[in-house]
Amino acid sequence: MHAYAKRVRSSGRTIGFVPTMGALHEGHATLVKAAKNRCDVVVVSVFVNPTQFNQTDDLEKYPRTFEADRSMLIDIGANAMFFPSVDEVYPKDVRTNFNMDGLDQTMEGPNRPGHFNGVVQVVMRLFDLTQPTVAFFGEKDFQQLTIIKYMTNKLGYPVSIVGCPTVRENDGLAMSSRNVRLTPNERRIAPVIYETLTSIKTQIATLGPAESRKNAINKLIDIPELKLEYLELVDPVTLETSNEDSESIQACIAVWVGDVRLIDNMRVK
Ligand code: PAF
Repeated sequence: MHAYAKRVRSSGRTIGFVPTMGALHEGHATLVKAAKNRCDVVVVSVFVNPTQFNQTDDLEKYPRTFEADRSMLIDIGANAMFFPSVDEVYPKDVRTNFNMDGLDQTMEGPNRPGHFNGVVQVVMRLFDLTQPTVAFFGEKDFQQLTIIKYMTNKLGYPVSIVGCPTVRENDGLAMSSRNVRLTPNERRIAPVIYETLTSIKTQIATLGPAESRKNAINKLIDIPELKLEYLELVDPVTLETSNEDSESIQACIAVWVGDVRLIDNMRVK
């Protein structure tokens, strides 16, 4: 991978990099298309990164669909699929601790201890191996995108980070590799996550952030199949809790639907 990347870069061509954990869907295809539009060569990594899972069960259950992923990448015209082993990504069992200056202390952070440290570790390692000019990430993982932008800048990586809009099913459910694990009944209920975010966006101008958040939470806790982990209205850059005076507000949510944990977010102001 490194030799290939070096060859491409030394011939003056740009590399668009799309890091993934596989189980590719339309959302990933959108990232690849964005990379193709902007760069000469598109590299997609498929690596289920063990250091970002804080539950072994979640790591084991994570869908692995190598053949389907490979044919999809061929169909949409990616140039290279990087499918490394754990030993190749982590030749030594080194854990680096990154200081994310508080961005990891909210929402996903406290609920998934060590998660963002694992994400930053693997993304920086993948950047070293694939030598991208531009890297593409989905906005669905909003906090992850914020942290990656911040860390890339802080560590001085010469990589531009591009966020791509969340791709949704017709009923609004954000596309996710985890959706395949929903039962038919859970799948029927799951679009309520999108409806909740939309209701906040509709109400926020008149009711303000606190009241519209409270209404949304009250609606969700009445649904027995759901367990709300968090619903936060935050500043899109600092991730600090919003208030009446905030100019921009991002609503971020994590919900258990049965035993599947789903996240979503929306710019509501
Ligand atoms: O968003 C993901 O799929 C993963 O967190 C990433 C960025 C590929 C790192 O493993």
